[in-house]
Amino acid sequence: MRLIFLGPPGAGKGTQAKLLTEKYGIPQLSTGDMLRAAVAEQSDVGKRAKAVMDAGQLVSDEIVNEIVSDRIDSPDCSKGFILDGYPRTVPQAVALGKMLEDKGLRLDAVIELKVDEVALVRRMENRVAETIAAGGKVRSDDNPEAFRKRLVEYREKTAPLSQHYAATGELKTVDGMASVETVTSEINKILASASADA
Ligand code: AP5
Ligand code: MG
Repeated sequence: MRLIFLGPPGAGKGTQAKLLTEKYGIPQLSTGDMLRAAVAEQSDVGKRAKAVMDAGQLVSDEIVNEIVSDRIDSPDCSKGFILDGYPRTVPQAVALGKMLEDKGLRLDAVIELKVDEVALVRRMENRVAETIAAGGKVRSDDNPEAFRKRLVEYREKTAPLSQHYAATGELKTVDGMASVETVTSEINKILASASADA
């Protein structure tokens, strides 16, 4: 099972990817999490990415393409993986297509979570409150200014991917405004029909 989650910041990509990880026993490949780990380690990539991420902008295609290409070669990805937050630009989608072709792999589904932008700001605020309540560290890009920029970046650079994957026939859309449980069950229906077609 190889799939992509598309959707704006706060759409629920990470929430749903984590649930599928448990169900299918395949890893969640969140480029955001990988970049945050690189920032925490203060690696070269982390040092280059930090200011860009804090400002709510996208890290260069070159950096994320390399991270993903290396990651999908890991043994734990042999049964599949869930891409959460990658690809995020048309050039990344083209690079991923080439990567998969070179490795002899194909995608089972591209799932877009459709959500209304007003709700996204509220979800980000909820996530901040929950993180603080749990004694965790709030993401440095979960503040109104960076979040606004993340939405602009999404609209300008990531939203065109829906067209890209609609054209390849791989795009499936789910109403991300429904409850977490309903969204999961809609995704499971899509995946059941994708595996029946395979
Ligand atoms: P990334 O970490 O990918 O952040 P994002 O896309 O902005 O998305 P979020 O993680 O904020 O949202 P999500 O969709 O995962 O929602 P979640 O499940 O948490 O990227 C961060 C940064 O890294 C980027 O800005 C960029 O700088 C860099 N980056 C990463 N990938 C890159 C790439 N490919 N190219 C270039 N740069 C890249 O849910 C949000 C909240 O809502 C949670 O509190 C959750 O509990 C709640 N929630 C979830 N579902 C529901 C529901 N159905 N109903 C009600 N609440 C819900
Ligand atoms: Mg996420």
